[in-house]
This record gives sequence, C-alpha cells and structure tokens, in this order.
Amino acid sequence: MRAMTEAKKLYVKTYGCQMNVYDSERMAETLGAQGYVQVDTPEAADMILLNTCHIREKAAEKLYSDLGRLKPLHEEKPDLKIGVAGCVAQAEGEEIMRRMPIVDLVVGPQTYHRLPRMMEAVDRGERALDTEFPEEDKFAHLPKDRRTRRGPTAFLTVQEGCDKFCSFCVVPYTRGAEVSRPAPRLLGEARELVARGVREITLLGQNVNAYHGAGAEGSEWGLARLVRELARIEGLDRIRYTTSHPNDMEDDLIAAHGECDKLMPYLHLPVQSGSDRILKAMNRKHTAESYIRLIERIRAARPDLVLSGDFIVGFPGETEADFEATLDLVRQVGYGSAYTFKYSARPGTPAAERAPVDAAEADDRLQRLQALITEQQRATQNAMVGRRVQVLFEKPGRMEGQITGKSEYLHAVHVEGPESLLGQIAAVDILASGPNSLAGRLVG
Ligand code: 5AD
Ligand code: SF4
Repeated sequence: MRAMTEAKKLYVKTYGCQMNVYDSERMAETLGAQGYVQVDTPEAADMILLNTCHIREKAAEKLYSDLGRLKPLHEEKPDLKIGVAGCVAQAEGEEIMRRMPIVDLVVGPQTYHRLPRMMEAVDRGERALDTEFPEEDKFAHLPKDRRTRRGPTAFLTVQEGCDKFCSFCVVPYTRGAEVSRPAPRLLGEARELVARGVREITLLGQNVNAYHGAGAEGSEWGLARLVRELARIEGLDRIRYTTSHPNDMEDDLIAAHGECDKLMPYLHLPVQSGSDRILKAMNRKHTAESYIRLIERIRAARPDLVLSGDFIVGFPGETEADFEATLDLVRQVGYGSAYTFKYSARPGTPAAERAPVDAAEADDRLQRLQALITEQQRATQNAMVGRRVQVLFEKPGRMEGQITGKSEYLHAVHVEGPESLLGQIAAVDILASGPNSLAGRLVG
C-alpha cells in the first residue's frame, strides 16, 4: 500500500488560445493521475507548468520574462519543478533548455500524453524534452475521466493543426497537419462532460470547420454531422465551435445554423483583411467579396447571427488604400466583436521575409480599426436592450445577490437571482447595456 503522503501541488499557467485552455486541463488531469492536485499560485506549487503560445512575438517574449521571474522562487525552493508546454515549447524547445537552466521539462502540444513518463525522468533529476509529432493519437492515451471539470461550460478539441499555410502564421509548423478526432470518441467525451453538469460545449480546432473525422461504421463526418449528432445528447443544450476558415464553410454547416436549435447564433469567422491584394499575399485563397457573400448566406440561414472575426493590420505591403478596404469590409459586415492584431513577423513564415510596414503607421491603423470595431460591438450589445435572451448562468456576480452568465449571443449578462440557478439556463429580459456586459431581469 502507498504511504499516505501529502499530494504534490501543480500550478498551470495558460497563455493564448482556447485550445491551450483545453490542453492545460488535459495535462492537469494527466498529472492528476500521478498524484498532483492543482493550486492557484506558483508559490504554493511543487511543479509549475507554463502552457505557451507562439502566435505573435509578444506571446513568446512573455514566456521568457515569466521564467525570469520564477528564478528567485526556484532558488528558494530548489526542488521546484518547472515545465514548458505548448507552441513555444514546440518551436523553441532546445533553445528554452539552453537559455533557461531552471526548466526541467519541455513538452509539445502533440506529446503531452507522455507526461507521466517524462515526469519519471524529471523525478530522477534528469531534464526531459519531447516535441515530436508522434504517430499515436494522444487523446487515446489521456485519462478518460474528465474529473477536473467545473462549471456548466466546457471546451472539446475535435480537430488540431492546419494545412492552410497563411503566409503570416506559425500554426501549421507548431501544431502540425490537420488531424480530426474520431466522432464516436468525441460523442463519448461530450456525454461524460454532460454527466458532470456541462450544458454548453465549444468545439475547438485551429480549423474546426475543416473537421472530417471517422464517423460510425467507416463513414466520414463533417462538422455539421458532428454538431447534429452532439445535439441529440440529452442535457447538452448549447453547442458552439471555433475557429473557422471561410473556405471550409460548407453548405450543410450553413444549413445547420438554421436548423439546429442547439447551435448558438454566434460565429467567429476570421477574414484578416478586406483587401484582395493583401488577402492574396496572405495566401488566404478567398476574396473580400466571396467572404461578404458567404456571410450573407449564413445570415440568410440564421438572421440573428452575431459575427466575430480576426484582423491583421500592417501586413507587409499594406497601403492606406488596402487598410481602407478593411474598414469598408468591417462596415459592410457589421461585427458583434472582433480581435485586431498588429502584424508580427514570425521566423520561418513566408511573410517574415518581406519588408515591414512603418511601425507608427501600423499602430495608427490598429487604433482606427479598433475604434470602428468597438463602435460596432457597442451597437450590437445595445441592440439587445428590450429583448428577451436565454442565459446560461455560470458564476456569482460581483455584487451580493447577483449571478452572471452568457446569452446565446455570448454577451455577458448579469441579473439579481439565486445561486441555485448556477448551471441552469433561464430567460432574461435585457434592461441595460454597460461597457462590457448587459444587465437584465429574470423572467417570471
Ligand atoms: N501577426 C499578427 N497576428 C497574427 N495572427 C496569426 N498570426 C499572426 C501574426 N504573425 C492572428 C490572426 C489569427 C489569430 C489567431 O491570430 O488574426 O486569426
Ligand atoms: Fe494560421 Fe491560417 Fe491556419 Fe488560421 S487558417 S491557423 S491563420 S495558417
């Protein structure tokens, strides 16, 4: 019998996208099976895991400054183990090991199912690095039990990697080629999440609408089929998916937006730029016009759809006229929210070879685009006042007696209401719109 020892403590910090949030959860579960329990501060931990993002330069710099800040803690606690996971680990694993002697372990996004074995080496005082793209499916080797889930919403990774090779993006290099998980496993994982109180699942993939997983009896399912089958799970009330590419928005998925009640009326569909010249240089393989036509078709299927997107300003060669075309596209489409980024040259990507746009010019464009997006975001939110929405309540509000959750349109909504409603969906009449959230009253 194992002696009763105090549980080892794990602190996980997640940078970047929602897929990293999902991966962090799965890594914590894997280490949980090794006796680790999660804690909320690095100071309380025996092991610190930084799950990194490489998408923009700043994200990678942040890792090195955070590791620098951990040095004093490491001196105080020489037994403290430090691991680096995620896309910076994948891209710069050896450099991290060289530059940062305090790092014990480097694990890529495709190998974290091997953490238990790597931890054995670390416990022997060795340093461990694994950034392969292995043949085996990591998900098949992860603990089946999704016990760390809390709250009524969850992420579920259905697809990973990207074959699109947008000329600015590191994802095809750090996450590898597109791979879809088999549908029966996803249905199983979804049922398990629902059994643990999850009411809303967001399907994740770097190119989630390119999903083409093995379905039942040798068939292949697209994302629309997967969504429709998930919708049959009793107790699962809401389905979302992110992030999508316009070229993979197939007819049956558009139709699902009109037909499947559980598919929420919110879609993140990045276009990056409104200039055809820049879209071509970005290797996006669509035009501004084809994107706008696509949005019209999706809105015809689901007229109340709220749209979100990603934009890059200051891409190499972007002129003022190209930027104006982006502003025009944003005005034509009308976004409920959007992420705006200043182009950041990523080593190894084709665009990094090209001459950059003047930094002050790029900053100015970023501000102008952000101002327009903020205006649209406010207008979309303000238009909810007077409407009745359905809110999935997730947590107590900041004020006594308040609870907060998300509407079907992903707006944060708070109401006066009992905590017994947490984890439940209830109708709310929207009374007011603040800077980042809506206030409403429970119906009935
Ligand atoms: N520079 C700036 N933004 C980028 N993105 C991806 N790569 C870069 C880059 N090199 C943005 C894109 C993408 C989002 C996840 O990050 O807009 O959709
Ligand atoms: Fe990157 Fe383009 Fe793939 Fe999105 S579609 S992950 S931006 S290469």
